[in-house]
Amino acid sequence: MNEVAAIRNYKTDTLLIGFSDLVALRNERPMVLTAGRGVFVTDENGREYLEAMAGFCCAALGYNDQELVEAATRQMRMLPFSPAAYNRTVPVVLELAERLAEISPIPGAHVAFATSGSEINDTMIKFAWHANVGAGQPKRRKIISRIGGYHGNTALTNALGGTPEHHEAFGLPMHDHLHVSQPVAQPGEDEAAMVERLAAELRATIEQAGPETVAIFIAEPVSFAADVCIPPPSYFPRLQDVLNEYGILMYSDEVITGFGRTGEFWAGPGVGVVPDVMMMSKGLSSAYQPIAASLMAPQFYERLEFATRKSGWLAHAGTSNAHPVAAAVALKVLDIFKSRDIMGHVQRVLPEWQKQLAAIEDHPLVSGTRSIGLMAGVTLHPGDLAKDVYQAAMHENLMIRPGTNMIKMTPPLIISQSEIVELFVRLRRALDRVLHGKQNG
Ligand SMILES: Cc1ncc(COP(=O)(O)O)c(C=O)c1O
Repeated sequence: MNEVAAIRNYKTDTLLIGFSDLVALRNERPMVLTAGRGVFVTDENGREYLEAMAGFCCAALGYNDQELVEAATRQMRMLPFSPAAYNRTVPVVLELAERLAEISPIPGAHVAFATSGSEINDTMIKFAWHANVGAGQPKRRKIISRIGGYHGNTALTNALGGTPEHHEAFGLPMHDHLHVSQPVAQPGEDEAAMVERLAAELRATIEQAGPETVAIFIAEPVSFAADVCIPPPSYFPRLQDVLNEYGILMYSDEVITGFGRTGEFWAGPGVGVVPDVMMMSKGLSSAYQPIAASLMAPQFYERLEFATRKSGWLAHAGTSNAHPVAAAVALKVLDIFKSRDIMGHVQRVLPEWQKQLAAIEDHPLVSGTRSIGLMAGVTLHPGDLAKDVYQAAMHENLMIRPGTNMIKMTPPLIISQSEIVELFVRLRRALDRVLHGKQNG
């Protein structure tokens, strides 16, 4: 009770909260969450919400996993911090790198760490630039990404994905950015025609920029940001042919999709992505600690290593990169995926998830659903209702995310069958609220 009372006394308009209306926040108290239990979170008034977003698609193991808490506590007691730099590191970080390399879809991968998805993407772009400078190709800097995707919040990564709204807000992109389309079929287009159109667009983009200036193509295997855009099987292999032709690196951003989100441990292999570099975060520690990692193919790493010869070292490190406490938590996440058979659990609950998604399509405000594993989008009709449904869901004690013309859900992977049923009961009630609100004018 004391803890709750103390929270009530905070002056809340001092804090900048992202993805929020700053003007409204001057007068409105933000939601203040105080506790978590499995797939539920509780606010300061004791109201419990079914958290169908796992935070930002990250709290895969739910909100009160004691094994993760203990792993963090143990490491904090032993050695709470040590920088990973100047030829120094700690056992948990070495072990985590080893274990990630073992489960990597890239054979013989080398591993680097950072603190967030944005930072690891940013870092890996720097590393490609470094390798290219080392190879005598300093002009090979441009990055191709897909409009509507998301690769982070730094000035560099924000310009990669996002929407015109993002770019306008921050004066992005800077130079070196090229954008192509998402794999979304135009009316009347079949898979083959769409993939050929997108391969031609990619080729034209490279040719126009000057092939010798293009370094990287970056994509999420499945783009959550681009309204759960699931590519058809021939899309990535076809783009990969074009990239190989021009010697452009393939970067796979598995920051959301890695660690089981799409029903497979990694999403890339299932959709034909063969990356030179692959990034992960979120599920890596189930978001209990900020940590991100990349897996680098040996050929890429060797080029980077070669580039460092001139200065005699890699001129890059970060205070909290490869943080021991975060690494200890990530190691425990890997253990839990095995000991509790998390991937098996996801497979067992998926039929209920799919059944419920199919059933919600009969709602008058729903025009369709898209899903892969425990990631789903419910398309709304008319399309401008996402924020209304989001608000209505809050009234029904359900947290979802508004998209462009859809609401999106990525619950913790530990969600049970009965919690999935409950989630859709609340979603239907939220949709009904909006429907009746509109009908009543
Ligand atoms: C695909 C993808 N990449 C990168 C990021 C950035 O990660 P972070 O928010 O940890 O910086 C996100 C965040 O949602 C993401 O979805």
